[in-house]
Amino acid sequence: MFITLEGPEGSGKTSHIKPLAEWFAAQGQTVYSTREPGGTSIGEQIRHVIHDLKNTEMHPRTEALLYQAARAQIVEQVIRPRLAAGEIVLCDRYFDSTLAYQGYGHQIIPLDELRQIIRFATGGLTPDLTILLDLDVEDGLKRKTNQDEWNRLDAFTVDFHQRVRAGYHELLKLEPQRWRVVDASQRWELVQEELRKVIGRELK
Ligand code: TMP
Repeated sequence: MFITLEGPEGSGKTSHIKPLAEWFAAQGQTVYSTREPGGTSIGEQIRHVIHDLKNTEMHPRTEALLYQAARAQIVEQVIRPRLAAGEIVLCDRYFDSTLAYQGYGHQIIPLDELRQIIRFATGGLTPDLTILLDLDVEDGLKRKTNQDEWNRLDAFTVDFHQRVRAGYHELLKLEPQRWRVVDASQRWELVQEELRKVIGRELK
């Protein structure tokens, strides 16, 4: 089963993935957790280029293609083989981030064009379940300022991030069967508990 976590900045995805994977492993499941962009040596190098605060001249088309390049690598090198071996793959962000950020966020590249390059990068591999960790944008950005990694996309305007969040809500309206929403403004323990429940239900 392929499960992805999505959400605006500071929604806490990254802090939840490892404990989630450990909890499901303790239940006897084989779980592999990873992240995007990254998760492979090539993907981590691409991540560095996309997120480097110095790369202010990067065009949204370049950005969109770099995310797909990293994605093509992780899909072929990691995700497909692990799914084929019967593992659960838990990924911190996947193609919905491209639709939300490069699509709804930038509003330069039409969504259907993004869907084409996503299809090329993933060979059509779609998550079985996608969880939106939903959070007020300004609260999320405030949380981010206290953390170490502040990337080029975090530095975009609050309006950009509002469009990203609204974009996620549009995406889940289009495919309600694939999405679940978890309120990320709750205490960390409550969010973790809800994530376990939502995924546990799906595994049954
Ligand atoms: P994060 O791992 O700290 O969430 O950082 C990933 C950043 O990359 C975040 O700002 C969202 C952005 N992103 C995109 O814009 N498009 C994508 O396709 C992916 C995977 C991430």
